Amino acid sequence: MIPGPRITVLGTGYLGATHAVCMAELGFDVVGMDVDEAKIAKLASGEVPFFEPGLPELLAKNLDTGRLRFTTSYDEAAAHGDVHFVCVGTPSKPGEMAADLSYVDAVMDGLLPRLSRPCLVVGKSTVPAGTAARLAERIAQEAPAGVELAWNPEFLREGFAIEDTLTPDRLVFGVASAEAEATLRSVYAPIIDAGAPVVVMGFATAELAKVAANAFLATKISFINAMAEVCEATGADVTLLSKALSYDDRIGGRFLNAGLGFGGGCLPKDMRAFMARAGELGVDQALSFLREVDAINLRRRARMVDLAAELVGGSFGGMRVAVLGAAFKPDSDDIRDSPALDVAATIQRRGAAVCVYDPAAMDNAKRDYPTLGYRDSALEAAKGADLVLHLTEWAEFREMDPEALGSVVSSRQIVDGRNALDPELWRAAGWVYRALGRP
Ligand code: UGA
Repeated sequence: MIPGPRITVLGTGYLGATHAVCMAELGFDVVGMDVDEAKIAKLASGEVPFFEPGLPELLAKNLDTGRLRFTTSYDEAAAHGDVHFVCVGTPSKPGEMAADLSYVDAVMDGLLPRLSRPCLVVGKSTVPAGTAARLAERIAQEAPAGVELAWNPEFLREGFAIEDTLTPDRLVFGVASAEAEATLRSVYAPIIDAGAPVVVMGFATAELAKVAANAFLATKISFINAMAEVCEATGADVTLLSKALSYDDRIGGRFLNAGLGFGGGCLPKDMRAFMARAGELGVDQALSFLREVDAINLRRRARMVDLAAELVGGSFGGMRVAVLGAAFKPDSDDIRDSPALDVAATIQRRGAAVCVYDPAAMDNAKRDYPTLGYRDSALEAAKGADLVLHLTEWAEFREMDPEALGSVVSSRQIVDGRNALDPELWRAAGWVYRALGRP
């Protein structure tokens, strides 16, 4: 065990569980805390409650070292930590665009009255600008002297969570004192020594660094999807357009894949919360373009439904449609705001019999969309289908054999919602291949 601050991680969802495991991997003595007993029981027994490649192995390894424990007790967390990372979710408020900060406040309610010595409370959750200043005020009122706040937003992507945590592009430290910066530098020392740049700033800039990054990524995806709309009107090919743009270093090719657009628990809600906060701050005009980013994104789903309808002759009544993919992106079992399930549900409402298959997200999909049909493989889902929709680009789907799939469907028609299949291969096997933004 390396000498150094003892760490707690409050909230053990995608972000917190990964952070706790990675901090233990760096050699720290870590306690992960959550109020969800089932989640904690799973983590303590070595089971990761969600799909994240590599995390189960790293969890098992670090449980074995004795450096990593899990608890539901605020008393234990408060007593243990020199540094407390706050990793709870900030979903949209029901029926609103603004972020719901009740989990962040609940952690403060649980933690602050139990603190009895100087420590650093470090927010990692994505929050509206101004939240950290308010929480610092709470700490000053409710915690003993020497307790300080820092804001250290997290940029990890699901599916790459470990890599993004242990070798991040950058570390953002929002701090109000040199001591807080020094503590964060000591926690992240191995990562900084390995070359990760650190950008030190105030609370508001750190909060914005996160939401601005997600807003930019969403804008980049919607930009290329807007180009896809234009491509559809002109007979151009958005995948080649994107390739041509990508060689310009100033633009770059990442997050320039046109298709069904973005979903998930982060990009859509962060962008909306950002607009809501801008409204409160009186600068809504500055972010009004994000409304269009959102609208372009949602139009892709509508376009997918229209294209599917066209291929089945205008009406879904009596048609069988196979949907490949339920997760909002590959290598995840997360179905929050999943474009694939949104399209599947719309097509079912319009009269089709829909069978869904996903390599990892079946349980989550069945829970939230119980009326869709589910099958245990792509071949099973495609049996007798009049149309196949490829909506989440899992490697398993990218590598599918068009001949094998063709032998079970009733009509060889596929829409590639992610521009991830090879049109020539599918057409050579007798498929009608259609995609968004391509002739
Ligand atoms: C996103 C950000 O990428 C992370 O940096 C951030 O930390 C995270 O949100 C968060 O706020 O917690 P994530 O939601 O895991 O990460 O997913 P992304 O990889 O960003 O993908 C988002 C969506 O965009 C997916 O639905 C994906 O299919 C779609 N996408 C992505 C495209 O449609 N085209 C692209 O070129 C790239």
